[in-house]
Amino acid sequence: MKRSFGILPDGREASLYTIVGGGLSAEISDYGATLWSLLVPDRNGDVADVVLGFQDVNGHRTSTTYFGATVGRNANRIGGAQFVLNGKTYSLPANDNGRNNLHSAPDSYAFRMWNVVAHKHNSITFGLHSPDGDQGFPGNADIEVTYRLEDDGVLKIVYDAECDQDTVFNLTNHTYFNLAGHDHPEKAMAQTLQMNATFFTVADAESIPTGENRSVEGTPMDFRTAKPIGRDLGEVYEPLKLQGGYDHNFEACGNPIATLCDPESGRVMEVETDLPGVQFYSGNFLVGEIGKEGVSYCYRGGIALETQYYPDSVNHPEWPQPFTKAGEHYHTETKYIFK
Ligand code: GLA
Repeated sequence: MKRSFGILPDGREASLYTIVGGGLSAEISDYGATLWSLLVPDRNGDVADVVLGFQDVNGHRTSTTYFGATVGRNANRIGGAQFVLNGKTYSLPANDNGRNNLHSAPDSYAFRMWNVVAHKHNSITFGLHSPDGDQGFPGNADIEVTYRLEDDGVLKIVYDAECDQDTVFNLTNHTYFNLAGHDHPEKAMAQTLQMNATFFTVADAESIPTGENRSVEGTPMDFRTAKPIGRDLGEVYEPLKLQGGYDHNFEACGNPIATLCDPESGRVMEVETDLPGVQFYSGNFLVGEIGKEGVSYCYRGGIALETQYYPDSVNHPEWPQPFTKAGEHYHTETKYIFK
């Protein structure tokens, strides 16, 4: 099934494509290869849409929330909006704090029309060509993102890409989850989160990593045992203050990297990935955006778990590197498993 998602200012029409499988149903847009809705039953079979989104494509186009979007060529921040590859310096737009790059914006893949490569009952694949010099990155790149609903409540997102030069590939999905339903933003912080993460990446006031990987032990960043997300948010702790809440990269120590649970409905979501990090973002920049069905998404009304290479890893050779060689195949997978 396919339906209109609205018309862009240049006259192009965006669409929403339905996929169904494993007891789940999702709608995904070709604009930003964006996960727009995800219907998940609770323990009584009551279905809720557990992801945040805007009513139409222009809501997504004019917002920097990145609801549900595919972010690339590089997700998260690059300090000083530049990096060196093969001895050459590459400069990107300084769209964050006037100094750094965030999410490869303003021309992020989140704001592009993607081509539909294949649409089946339980999966959809989008393709995007990103030319040499696009956003400042080297090489002509061809990128595919596949969303697939598999048996037993699994939403799998697969990324494939190739480039004719050595380049950066660090794609993520920026969905905001609320397992109580997107229309209950007041319940997001009561959900419990468990993360298989012993270290997090300390960042400065501009959210650029300092290079320190700090143990979560004895800090509000410790999610090794499940706890309500909001429980320690009020604690006096420099990294919470600097980032305005949770907005940090955690080192993935094995799967599931994260388990989110809504105690009231009983919905549980596990996150599995082959990537080295996950940015846990507690929706600190939400300011009451009006989304689907006129719902106002208040401060901390949803959370993102963005699987990715560490922020600014292009400038930290000691960390896992987001570089792909010319002609090599980039392939990563992240699963959201509903129980
Ligand atoms: C990421 C960043 C946040 C914020 C959101 C989008 O999660 O880490 O700081 O920019 O994207 O609003």
